[in-house]
Amino acid sequence: MNDIFLRACRGEKTLPVPVWFMRQAGRYLPQYQEIRGKADFLTMCKTPELAAEVTLQPVDLLGVDAAILFSDILIPLEAMGAELAFKEGRGPVITPPVRSWDEFSALHSIDPIKDVPFVLDTIKLLRKELSGKVPLIGFAGAPFTLATYLIEGGTTKSFVNIKKMLFSQPDLFRAVMNLITDVTISYLSAQIDAGAQAIQLFDTWGGILTRQDFRDGALVYARRIFNSLREKGVPMIYFVYDGGHLLDFVRLSGADVIALDWRTDIEKALVPLGKDAVVQGNLDPCLLFLPEERLRERIAEILRQGLLARAHIFNLGHGVLPEIPPEKVKLAIDIIHELSS
Ligand code: CP3
Repeated sequence: MNDIFLRACRGEKTLPVPVWFMRQAGRYLPQYQEIRGKADFLTMCKTPELAAEVTLQPVDLLGVDAAILFSDILIPLEAMGAELAFKEGRGPVITPPVRSWDEFSALHSIDPIKDVPFVLDTIKLLRKELSGKVPLIGFAGAPFTLATYLIEGGTTKSFVNIKKMLFSQPDLFRAVMNLITDVTISYLSAQIDAGAQAIQLFDTWGGILTRQDFRDGALVYARRIFNSLREKGVPMIYFVYDGGHLLDFVRLSGADVIALDWRTDIEKALVPLGKDAVVQGNLDPCLLFLPEERLRERIAEILRQGLLARAHIFNLGHGVLPEIPPEKVKLAIDIIHELSS
C-alpha cells in the first residue's frame, strides 16, 4: 500500500512527500457535479454508496496519497438535535441558533452507531473499496468551530453571538463546549473503530480569537479530544485556519501533525512549533491559478521549507475552490511528487 502519508504523519521524511488536498472531493470536479446534480449535499453525505464514490474520485483522478471521508463537520450537530440545512448561496443554516440554556437543553449526546450509522458505513465501504491503495482520513470539526455554527446559526462575519456568550454567559459557553467535546470524542472514536486510519480536527474559526481566549475557550477542548483519542494509535492532525498568532499554543494541543494555512511560512511556523514538528500545508489554493512555471516555483519553495520540519505532508492552506480548473489541481499534485522524488 502507498503508506507515505501515514509514515510522514509519524515523523518520517518520505520520498516523495505525500500530498492530499482539503476539499479534494467537491464542486470543482465535473464528476462530483454529475452526482451532485442528482442528489443534494446532505443526501450525498447520508448515502454511503454516493459518499464513498465521491471520496474515491480524487484518488482515481488526481493520484493523491490519502483519501478523506466525504462528509461535513456539521453532521454531528444535526445528530445532537439541531436542525441543519444547506441553503444554495447561503451555506449552512442551523435552526434555532443556541443562545440560551433552554435552547441548549434541547441538545443531547450521541451514540454514533445509532445516530450517524451512514458515516461509519461509508468508512467501512471505503476501506473495502480502497483495499489498501491509500489510507483513509476521518475528521470532525473542533469544538470552537462547531459551537460557532451552533450559536451563530450559520456563517457569520462578526462572530458577535459566540463572543457574547463566551464573555457574558461563560457557564453556558462551557456547557456547550463540553457537550460538543464529548460528542466529538465518541464520533471520532467510532470513525477510527470503523476504519479511519488518521483523523483531522478542523478549527476553521479558532483564529478569530485573541491568544488568551483561544487558549482558554478553544484549545483546552481540542486538547481533551487529542488526549482522549491518543490511545487509539492513529495519527491526529490539527488545523487552525488563520492561526498564525496561536502556533505556540497549537503546539500544546497534543496533535501529531500541525496543519498550516498559507499566511504563515512553514519556516516561520517552525519557530513557535519547534523543529521537531510534523507540518502539513500550505499552498494558497488561489496559487493554482498561476501558469505552470510559476506554480512550480511556488511548490518548490514550500517543499524546501517542509524539509526544515521533522516531516512534511503537502496540502493547500485551505480547501480547493470550485473555480479552480481540475487540470491545475492534477498538475500541482504531479509537480509535488516529481519535485520531491
Ligand atoms: O475535504 C474533503 O474533500 C472532505 C469533505 C469535507 C467537506 N466539508 C465537504 C463539503 C470536509 C472535510 C468539510 C469540512 C468543513 N465543512 C469545514 C472545515 C474546513 C473549512 O473549509 O474550513 C467547514 C467550515 C464546513 C462547513 C461547510 N460545509 C460550509 C461553510 C459549506 C458551504 C460552503 C460551500 O463551499 O458551499 C459546506 C458545504 C460543503 N462541504 C460542500 C462540500 C463538498 C459543498 C456542498 C455542495 O454544494 O456540493
